Amino acid sequence: MPPADLLLVWYDRHRRTLPWRGEADPYRVWLSEVMLQQTTVAAVTPRYVRFLARFPDVAALAAAPWEALAEEWAGLGYYARARNLHAAARAVVAAGGFPCSAAGLAELPGIGAYTAAAVAAIAFGEPVVPVDGNVERVTARLFAEAAPLPGAKPRLAALAARFMEQPAARARPSDFAQALFDLGATLCTPRRPACALCPWSGHCAAAAQGIQESLPAKAAK
Ligand code: ADE
Repeated sequence: MPPADLLLVWYDRHRRTLPWRGEADPYRVWLSEVMLQQTTVAAVTPRYVRFLARFPDVAALAAAPWEALAEEWAGLGYYARARNLHAAARAVVAAGGFPCSAAGLAELPGIGAYTAAAVAAIAFGEPVVPVDGNVERVTARLFAEAAPLPGAKPRLAALAARFMEQPAARARPSDFAQALFDLGATLCTPRRPACALCPWSGHCAAAAQGIQESLPAKAAK
């Protein structure tokens, strides 16, 4: 089986149950991705649910005063995220709705290449691969890319983008993105990756050389 098919079969069996899973509403996907940028899944889970109870849609968030959003964000840190969330919600409402492509999403305040690709893939099914630290690690190992971060970022992004050349990934961009997140979070971990359980172990160049734990390399400071 090609690698994308193997990953999706694994994901269908082992996907994590998370409150934003199965969600295709761009507001909810965007909120989850912004929260997950600097905060763990365990910490985000209850806060995501609570946030949506208070601001159920983008119009509610756009209409809220900043103080209400700041209060709801308390303890999550990185307040610039909340500021950008607010500004982007107002831009979306002013435009009459979310842009439905990664390129359009990337023009909103605070939405970088990663978040734009994640929302485009998960909410709109665009065949793009969002590349965060987890996806960089999985990709660096799969291809035994030895060049160190951060210089290797463009190379890893280009390698990850090529996953979408595989028909199984193109058929399910949302699941494919989330399968990569789960693989990186649960098996292809920074320390002691669980290669024996990995659907890509037979394809992994780093595992074949026994160098998986040393990748991705980091430039000396
Ligand atoms: N990390 C970043 N985005 C995620 C998602 N949608 N699910 C799980 N972990 C993530």
